[in-house]
Amino acid sequence: MSTTLITNIGELTTNVAAGGDRCGTLHDAAVLIEGGRIAWVGPAADAERFRSHAPAPADAAPPDREPPTDRRERGGHPRARQSGGGSRVVDAGGRAVIPGFVDSHTHIVFGGDRADEFEARMSGTAYAAGGIRRTVAATRAASDDELRRRLVGFVDELHAQGTTAFEVKTGYGLTVEDEARLARLAAEVTPEVTFLGAHVVPAEYADARDDYVDLVCGHMLQAVAPHARWVDVFCERGAFTPDESRGVLAAGIAHGLLPRVHGNQLGPGEGVRIAVALGAASVDHCTYLDDADVAALAGSDTVATLLPGVEFSTRQPYPDARRLLDAGVTVALASDCNPGSSFTSSMPLMIALAVREMRMTPAEAVWAATAGGAAALRRDDIGVVAPGRRADLVLLDAPTRVHLAYRPGVPLVAGVWKDGIRL
Ligand code: NIG
Ligand code: FE
Repeated sequence: MSTTLITNIGELTTNVAAGGDRCGTLHDAAVLIEGGRIAWVGPAADAERFRSHAPAPADAAPPDREPPTDRRERGGHPRARQSGGGSRVVDAGGRAVIPGFVDSHTHIVFGGDRADEFEARMSGTAYAAGGIRRTVAATRAASDDELRRRLVGFVDELHAQGTTAFEVKTGYGLTVEDEARLARLAAEVTPEVTFLGAHVVPAEYADARDDYVDLVCGHMLQAVAPHARWVDVFCERGAFTPDESRGVLAAGIAHGLLPRVHGNQLGPGEGVRIAVALGAASVDHCTYLDDADVAALAGSDTVATLLPGVEFSTRQPYPDARRLLDAGVTVALASDCNPGSSFTSSMPLMIALAVREMRMTPAEAVWAATAGGAAALRRDDIGVVAPGRRADLVLLDAPTRVHLAYRPGVPLVAGVWKDGIRL
């Protein structure tokens, strides 16, 4: 089994809460990776024994000593940089290591883009859900290979920016065949596939929306469910009503899918309360909340996932993260990467926005982008640096995670490990 010792870590964010520190911060730390999992976490001084006792590779060559890495080394195809066996020592050079980002909300399987719509919006046109139909048309027209190439490009983008786990939604196909196609493609790159047939009512059903909802709850769901883990609905004026949303989510649950909801993005509504009532893992956006919504979330296991890339890209007011955190709600941050409302895959940008625009502390934002995302996906194998968890880690070219917010726009990701493999 291959081992990697990352040592001389100046600041390690474990997310194993310690006292009042939810981020479980360790200084002068080390992490031992065995295979795809974390085997040990502790003081760098105690890691010396792993240097000397590291199992020798099959050819009995001495362990590789990787010099302190820098940004230029980032990227490359998984496994290109690190093959099966052997042991390695990585000197973090006093820099910070955090868990890999968990992006629990993306829409990265689609055709075309909507740069013209963005440009018009920057001249004053408001964002509207109707633009989704344009991406639906471009997606239907694209071949599997075109969509796959695009999707893999976004996955590379995510990895390069430190995201090691991510969710992908369907929702730009909106026919039985196209939704199943998008789910199949998404399942090639992540186990976290979400059926979003209820994204908008497609143009051809504009005068027959009940028929479309029946299709989503019937044949479309049957075709997609084998490839998906989650069911989602855009519960919003201009998309799906509360009753329609409840129906779609109930049908998904009956097919073995777990619910999550797009709610309260463009105005107040029932999205949050529907999500809580159904025990959804997450309700996403949460921009327009009343006190009852916040109380419902606080008394539930439903995560409030905030997507500040949307407000940044649509010039709308940011959600009130402070109000949610102060009420005891579990908050996650995600990119919502999509061609309409937030065409960015950058979790560091989400952290910077959350801190600078939404009054989150750097520690809260980093937790929300890692452990928070894991909670929103109901995953306990990621988002935390502790023995037994997946070895998904990010080395920052910075002495502390605070730099993610303090140095917005600067590429600080110096190394990424996913399942113990250096990407
Ligand atoms: O999460 N809210 C619904 N769906 C996306 C936007 C999709 C689009 O505009 O293409 C979102 O913001
Ligand atoms: Fe979304």
